[in-house]
Amino acid sequence: MSYYNDEERLAADVLKTIARSQAVKEYVQQSPNLYPLLFAAARRFVTGETVEDALRAADYLSAGGYRVSLEYIGENTTDIAACREAKTTFLRLIEEVGRRQADATVSFDLSHIGLSIDPGLAESHLLEMAEAANKQGVTLMISMEESTKTEQILRLYQKMAFLYTNIGITIQAHLHRSQEDLTHLLSLPGRIRIVKGAYKEPPEVALPRGEGVNQRYLELVERCTAARHPISIATHDAHLIQVIEQKGYAHLPFVEMEMLYGIQPELSKQLREKGVKLRIYLTYGTEWYLYLCHRLAEHPPNLFVALADMQDPTRTAEIPY
Ligand code: FDA
Repeated sequence: MSYYNDEERLAADVLKTIARSQAVKEYVQQSPNLYPLLFAAARRFVTGETVEDALRAADYLSAGGYRVSLEYIGENTTDIAACREAKTTFLRLIEEVGRRQADATVSFDLSHIGLSIDPGLAESHLLEMAEAANKQGVTLMISMEESTKTEQILRLYQKMAFLYTNIGITIQAHLHRSQEDLTHLLSLPGRIRIVKGAYKEPPEVALPRGEGVNQRYLELVERCTAARHPISIATHDAHLIQVIEQKGYAHLPFVEMEMLYGIQPELSKQLREKGVKLRIYLTYGTEWYLYLCHRLAEHPPNLFVALADMQDPTRTAEIPY
């Protein structure tokens, strides 16, 4: 269970705020000095810059008994050509993954493939990806972004879920609206991934990290398991996972657990050894800035780890499983 002290809460707030700054992001991406320095810290959570890096990690983890989910990282793309390029890259990823991994999923932000420009563009790209994924036996998992996009993302998912059953959706326990959203989502066939929620949101929209979110998280899990709906319990919270195990949910046939690459690998190993179906979420690409900020904000002691990783990049050279 993570409870921030005052300094950590402040650090988390600052990190989540700068995560949203397009100017800082562009500065980091374009700086020949800052990019490699911060990338050394990002490498703890991102498999590398190329699809080959991600597939190497995916093969390694699959051989070790893990399921995998892959993301070509990026979000809030406001250039049509870049959205098309992202969609083309995802099509390649779907093909590669479908050829190599049984049970693999591909995850993505709808704002990476056009939502920030035009929902119609995102829809047409999603249709192409869903068709390709369907042929390859791959599941697509739509990530959930800031609350200003929740409605659009759910609307698009609901439209697509009637056409393709191989698309799933992510829901954030911290949002006040999520219990009601779940009622609709349970009537659709796709897998539901339950997360706490990574974005900084105002109090009228979401609860801050703490016991209230954990309680809501558990309620969402309980409603899904009662409905025997396919879910992915996506958390690194050891206490919450213990409760979920004690309640007997972790081994249900339609339940899987999911964790981000590089976070709590020891806990991942323990769960896998107990026979829990565990998926590791792998990211790759050069647009890792927001992702890194979120991983630091979730666990501010990571700032010290990041400093050490920048000073000695060999610390993150090995796959930590
Ligand atoms: P919490 O943050 O309470 O952490 C519990 C414990 O886990 C901590 O005490 C610490 O020990 C450890 N821990 C957590 N984060 C850590 C970190 N970064 N480094 C080191 N240790 C850490 N969010 C979102 O808004 N939209 C989305 O689509 C997704 N997608 C997604 C997919 C998957 C597979 C996962 C696992 C998570 C997401 N998230 C997400 C992120 C999610 O919302 C949340 O921010 C993180 O999972 C951290 O929350 P925890 O549930 O781990 O609990």
